Amino acid sequence: MVVRIALMSVILVGGSPGTGKTKVAKILGSKLSVEVISLGDFADESGCVKTEDRARKTGIINEDCLVDALLDLTDNKIRRMIIEGHYIDLVPSSSVQWVFILRTHPEILRARLSERNYSREKVIENVEAEVIGVCQMDAIDAFGETKVFEIDTSDLSAPQTVEKIEELMKTKSSHDRIDWMSLLEEEGRLDEFLTD
Ligand SMILES: Nc1ncnc2c1ncn2[C@@H]1O[C@H](COP(=O)(O)OP(=O)(O)O)[C@@H](O)[C@H]1O
Ligand SMILES: [Mg+2]
Repeated sequence: MVVRIALMSVILVGGSPGTGKTKVAKILGSKLSVEVISLGDFADESGCVKTEDRARKTGIINEDCLVDALLDLTDNKIRRMIIEGHYIDLVPSSSVQWVFILRTHPEILRARLSERNYSREKVIENVEAEVIGVCQMDAIDAFGETKVFEIDTSDLSAPQTVEKIEELMKTKSSHDRIDWMSLLEEEGRLDEFLTD
């Protein structure tokens, strides 16, 4: 029988594409001297990325495969690690101590993703997901309210975002919830960001 011991050693950095996960996790990792794992690369290296989805220019993740690989990665590990990426809710909850979801105002995110040469469809799809708050909802579902912290990075640099994360790890002070949908609705601008 395999005994799985969970040690809550994992720090997760999640958020929509373009919110700064990779950059922020890298800086946080070097400040804390902790290994950083990018989930996309990890899925690839673990043989969990299936045939290319050519139309959308992305690989398709085999979620069962990735869940197994993540169980192996986080099992019986005392050493801390940061895992960043777009599928963080697949990380076994019992090994997770902190979840930081980076949020970015939809207008800023749209500009950032357009600069990245994303297709129009992909920009719209990702901006909509940020308006709705998909990553934050999925994280709360997977890990519970108390572990999940959201950070509005719209007016922060990546190093400032890292400072904010370190502050939250010390004080656990705020569980601010960010709701672009209500904000844009109040401003009468929701139509600019949601298609039907
Ligand atoms: N406050 C910020 N935090 C992180 N990245 C930022 C910030 N402002 C602008 N950027 C830029 O946003 C882009 C997306 O960053 P990246 O780390 O690749 O995002 P993700 O991994 O979430 O897709 C990078 O070009 C980065 O320099
Ligand atoms: Mg990234």
